Amino acid sequence: MWTKKDLQQLIKDKMGEYLFIVVSNRQPYVHVLKKGKIECQRGAGGVITALDPVMQACNGTWVACGDGEADRKVTDKQDKVKVPPENSAYTLKRVWLSKEEENGFYYGYSNEALWPLCHMAFERPVFRKEDWDYYVQVNKKFAQAVIEEVGNNKAFIWIQDYHLCLLPKFLKEMAPNQLIISHFWHIPWPNYEAFRICPQRKEILDGLLANDLLGFHIRYHCDNFFDAIDREIESKINRESFSIVRRGHETFVRPYPISVDFAGISEISDSDDVLKAKGALIEELGLCGLKVLLGLDRIDYTKGIPERLLAIDRLLEKHPELKEKMVFLQMGEISRIHIPKYKALNDEINALVEQINWKHSTDSWKPILLMRRHLSFHELLAFYRLGDICIVSSLHDGMNLVAKEFISSRTDEGGILVLSQFTGAARELTDAVLANPYDREQFSEAIFTALNLPEDERRKQMVKMREVVGHSNIFRWAGKILSELLKFEFKE
Ligand code: F6P
Repeated sequence: MWTKKDLQQLIKDKMGEYLFIVVSNRQPYVHVLKKGKIECQRGAGGVITALDPVMQACNGTWVACGDGEADRKVTDKQDKVKVPPENSAYTLKRVWLSKEEENGFYYGYSNEALWPLCHMAFERPVFRKEDWDYYVQVNKKFAQAVIEEVGNNKAFIWIQDYHLCLLPKFLKEMAPNQLIISHFWHIPWPNYEAFRICPQRKEILDGLLANDLLGFHIRYHCDNFFDAIDREIESKINRESFSIVRRGHETFVRPYPISVDFAGISEISDSDDVLKAKGALIEELGLCGLKVLLGLDRIDYTKGIPERLLAIDRLLEKHPELKEKMVFLQMGEISRIHIPKYKALNDEINALVEQINWKHSTDSWKPILLMRRHLSFHELLAFYRLGDICIVSSLHDGMNLVAKEFISSRTDEGGILVLSQFTGAARELTDAVLANPYDREQFSEAIFTALNLPEDERRKQMVKMREVVGHSNIFRWAGKILSELLKFEFKE
């Protein structure tokens, strides 16, 4: 089993004098002002859940956008700050975007064009020429920040996600012999029928082919990528070595299913702080004596939150005997709220909760509690620990790390996972109760099945899933990618 130590050893043995730089849009830590004081919070989302423990083990530099109100107050002249605050394990270098850049690059091209393009959630992508121009401009800005950091050194660069498709190409143009570049794509890669509508498809593929190594969660996404290349770019696809050669440069493409820090989460979940936080949440929310069903997501239309609420509604229609015996606790941080579809989704969720609660509530009970506050890491684990069932109902998801975090937190071997069959995680977590979020009857039945699962069966499922996540943990994911990356040699 890969451990944090194995990863550290790999870096120590193989990284040598070279720099190690991770690049993403979202920063791992944000500095905010709370009652006039600066507070450092860990960011949300899959990239951070996965990469923060890796970076804490590797002591590299992470380049990302600064967006917190107090971010500039804590950075030095080179825009750097050590994180996390408790142990300063690595360096965060912040890139600053103007309002216009944030709007065009992040809200616009990344999240109104590429995000819906890659997820089959039946939301139409919006391609605006001006958003694309900002996307190009910000990718160049990231390239400058990375090159500034590299200086005269040689460096291994590890780029994250769909915000930075053009970065590999810009970097290779700026420092052809100094960089070995890998890129991990954290969301699905669509099939060609979906991808071909993108007006900038050739530029995107061209940018990604500057990588030396390109990773997706599952083999199916790699195959979709090969199809796109086959149809759009003159190149040689080598199915045996799983690589693409174009103009003398070879890009290796590989599936690497992402995961979480199983051992770290397991250990903290047993701590007194987490147990105390669990007690506090039970009291605050009045959960004592109730079966607790959990949902935890960024408020995003790919996560199937309305579908989940409607399944709870159906469950209570069919099984009114569950009233006053269970509660569904949905935790959700507001996300990308300046995009009209996200705003509309937020309103839809509020209205649905209102409607379902009105329909089923009694004098002393309501079925759904919606919470939007930021959870500290300890509170997050406490939240997982108080659930009898965790429901993940994504309409389409590259992997879904909530499912893996929930499993990792359950050292008590308690809890059941109801998991959408449309997540990458469903391919590994075959012992979860699988559900189709589009099928309200089946979905509500799956929740009912989970509620009635015999104790020994439930425990058996959790033990098996803990084995899977324990083995395929985040250090294995990072170790596999970095082992491959460190085999590349710099050009002379
Ligand atoms: O995993 C996909 C992803 O877009 C990550 O890039 C990101 O960290 C996460 O979801 C959250 O999204 P955002 O950074 O837009 O809040």
